[in-house]
Amino acid sequence: MMKDNMEEMFPVVDEEGTVIGRATRGECHNGSRLLHPVVHLHVFNAQGDVFLQKRPEWKDIQPGKWDTAVGGHLDYGETPEEALPREVSEELGITTFTPTFIGKYVFESQRERELVYVYCTTYNGEIKPSKDELDGGRFWTMQEIRKAMGQQLLTPNFEREFQRFFLEKIERYRLLTEQIRALTAGETDSVAVMANVCAAIHETMGFFWTGFYRVKDGELVLGPFQGPVACMHIGFGRGVCGTAWKQCETIVVPDVEQFPGHIACSSLSRSEIVVPVLSKDGEVLAVLDIDSKELSTFDDIDRHYLEGICRMIVMT
Ligand code: SME
Repeated sequence: MMKDNMEEMFPVVDEEGTVIGRATRGECHNGSRLLHPVVHLHVFNAQGDVFLQKRPEWKDIQPGKWDTAVGGHLDYGETPEEALPREVSEELGITTFTPTFIGKYVFESQRERELVYVYCTTYNGEIKPSKDELDGGRFWTMQEIRKAMGQQLLTPNFEREFQRFFLEKIERYRLLTEQIRALTAGETDSVAVMANVCAAIHETMGFFWTGFYRVKDGELVLGPFQGPVACMHIGFGRGVCGTAWKQCETIVVPDVEQFPGHIACSSLSRSEIVVPVLSKDGEVLAVLDIDSKELSTFDDIDRHYLEGICRMIVMT
């Protein structure tokens, strides 16, 4: 039977993640409550279902429960960005994926204190759960997960983390999607549709700037929006908006200062997502641009629901 190696060496960190020492797995899990870092990856498929792993019976913590797709400790000397692909490959056999960092928080139980780095990804390839480390895994619908909450089937860490980082946001997006479906049904004037779509998104999600740029005479021209005044013309391939147009795909920018050529309409904007609105033939007719005052606001959940909303917009 497999067993965790209690002598494995973990870094001990402060709440910011700075390494302040080291300790063995045994020392970290024996109630000493030494804060040690872990990475978690939530894996969604294109339908928005969530992959969960089943913890084997031999685990020292929460045996037999369904848990976040990937979870693992950082080795001493390793960064979260290094630990994540190692754990993902070891546990699920996934070697190519694009993670989005969601946030970090301190998880406390009677046995341990973890600094959890939370990531998510959308993945449609094959998943091969490790036969040694896991007792299998499968995709769960959101409805199944909601039903299983509080039934002792899922780990409490997963339940709390998923509720906090995903369910509340997903709930809001689902309501928003229904609202927009109703608002846009049968409406043929694209300005009226864009105006109400950006107002609904802006009000429901509380973003800093939400609006449309329309493709007109070979450039992007400002359309209906909510938020502070913005630049009115953007060239093809310029800024995040012009790049999304050129590449004909959604662009998520965790930190606008790191995006070459980002056009700063407001110095308060820190992160951004731009989603193209396409014609039936796949031609870009407009882009939906959303800005946030926080870093790393947008992830695969935003991408999934905003792309869905943009598909509902029929441009005339
Ligand atoms: N930041 C965008 C310009 C538009 S404003 O954010 C509203 C860009 O780089 O394309």
